[in-house]
Amino acid sequence: MDADLIARFALDGRRAVVIGAGRGIGREIAIVLAKAGAALVVADIDTAELAVTVDAIHAAGAQVEAVPLDVRDREAVLALGARADAGGGIDVWVNVAGVISAANVADMAPEEYDRIVAVNMTGVYWGCAAAARIMTPRGRGSIVNISSTGADVPSAGLSVYAMTKAAVNMLTRSLAHEVGPHGVRVNAVAPGFVDTPMVTYRFRDATGAIDERQKQAIFAARADATVLKRVGTVEDIASAVLYLAADASAFVTGQILRPNGGLAMP
Ligand SMILES: NC(=O)c1ccc[n+]([C@@H]2O[C@H](COP(=O)([O-])OP(=O)(O)OC[C@H]3O[C@@H](n4cnc5c(N)ncnc54)[C@H](O)[C@@H]3O)[C@@H](O)[C@H]2O)c1
Repeated sequence: MDADLIARFALDGRRAVVIGAGRGIGREIAIVLAKAGAALVVADIDTAELAVTVDAIHAAGAQVEAVPLDVRDREAVLALGARADAGGGIDVWVNVAGVISAANVADMAPEEYDRIVAVNMTGVYWGCAAAARIMTPRGRGSIVNISSTGADVPSAGLSVYAMTKAAVNMLTRSLAHEVGPHGVRVNAVAPGFVDTPMVTYRFRDATGAIDERQKQAIFAARADATVLKRVGTVEDIASAVLYLAADASAFVTGQILRPNGGLAMP
């Protein structure tokens, strides 16, 4: 492959922050950015899972610093940014941490409403603020927020999740206007249904165990709903993030990239 073309997707000498890198999509994003050449700062509320991500990045031969973080703590998010910046600047910032649970609007518990909004929307907002503060004076950088097909397609029981992801899309476009003139790009990746621990809430029984028959039925239905007739993988999503993080996407900002198998085409 042509060396100039490879260079457009390389992150050698760059530094990247991934929040929500403990497992699932966030872990794979951190590993892929590391394999592309970046030094990583990874953060998550689950320190045990984060340690597994760190081992995988070390195995890939890359540098990594792990930071325990609850994205609901605004001061901690801003402090992470300042600390990461002091370590050599930040070129790529990815907001991945998210939570989901299902309840109809009439039945939503206030604590659960607050939790989903705090992680999925407010956490991404302050993550963006931390990244913008670092990148704007430097005159370069790429911010990537993880949204969802839920922002495009309404479904019963997921109103709060969908609201937060629609907010992430509009935050992405608003911030793109603010920081674009300073050389900083902001985009979102909106995955379709991806096989991660998050989606297991759909097929756990009353004891919390996975119901394999229900899992197979849900995976088959989710695959059938796509044009490509399959569910997504963490690799599908990490590849989209790599494109937006790298110079290959230098003219792309304010966009919502949808690796969703054709599930939604808004
Ligand atoms: N899996 C899917 O089908 C799917 C589809 C569309 C969008 N997404 C989005 O992709 C992102 C990653 O999802 P996933 O499927 O990998 O989920 P996951 O549950 O497997 O991973 C989420 C990660 O976020 C971390 N996290 C949760 N709350 C946190 C907090 N308060 N502070 C810091 N970290 C916290 C978790 O510890 C975990 O490591 C989420 O934003 C999710 O909404 C997932």
